[in-house]
Amino acid sequence: MPEVASVLFGREDVRRRVRELGRQITEDYAGREPVLVTVLRGGAVFLADLIREIDLPLETHLMAISRYGDAEESLGRVQIRLDVEGDLRGRDVVFVEDIVDTGLTSRYLLSILAGRAPASLELCTLLDRSARRIVPVEPRYIGFDCPDVFVVGYGLDHDERYRNLPDILSVDDLPGLREDPDALIPHLAASPA
Ligand code: IMP
Ligand code: MG
Repeated sequence: MPEVASVLFGREDVRRRVRELGRQITEDYAGREPVLVTVLRGGAVFLADLIREIDLPLETHLMAISRYGDAEESLGRVQIRLDVEGDLRGRDVVFVEDIVDTGLTSRYLLSILAGRAPASLELCTLLDRSARRIVPVEPRYIGFDCPDVFVVGYGLDHDERYRNLPDILSVDDLPGLREDPDALIPHLAASPA
């Protein structure tokens, strides 16, 4: 029987790429003190690793949102449940996302952050699935280009589970995973099988 999912970006590739992004951000923001903002819950895993690869003083803030239906139905509009604390005016803000898919969520949240008059505002996403873009969003920093397939792991969930998978998996049989939501438990092993 074919597997429900397979490794798309393994943990070592992720670690290497996160390190590269951190180095790039360190260079680009040299002499400044950026503010990194992400959205719970998916972005938290990436942010936690990314900030430890940035050799600059920085701040981190978390946002939490709830959606009215899915991104497409809601046109990206979300209700903000937890917001950045403090003033972003004049700050160099890096908005960190787990994945930019249709672009609707990122565009909406970027427009909110832009309204707070930061000195600069850039988007850093671990995964960029540009094939599904509905609105133009161009991340300044991209971890990986993501094929048009549902992915889980490293912060990305299926029904709130599997965010703790160390690898990023592509779910090749999504109906199969819906039918057997436990199918990916073997992939939770701390070291590759
Ligand atoms: P958007 O379509 O660009 O607005 O993406 C909205 C959100 O959907 C992302 O921030 C993710 O949290 C979630 N999402 C999109 N694609 C996937 C996926 O393949 N796996 C898990 N979550 C996803
Ligand atoms: Mg998300």
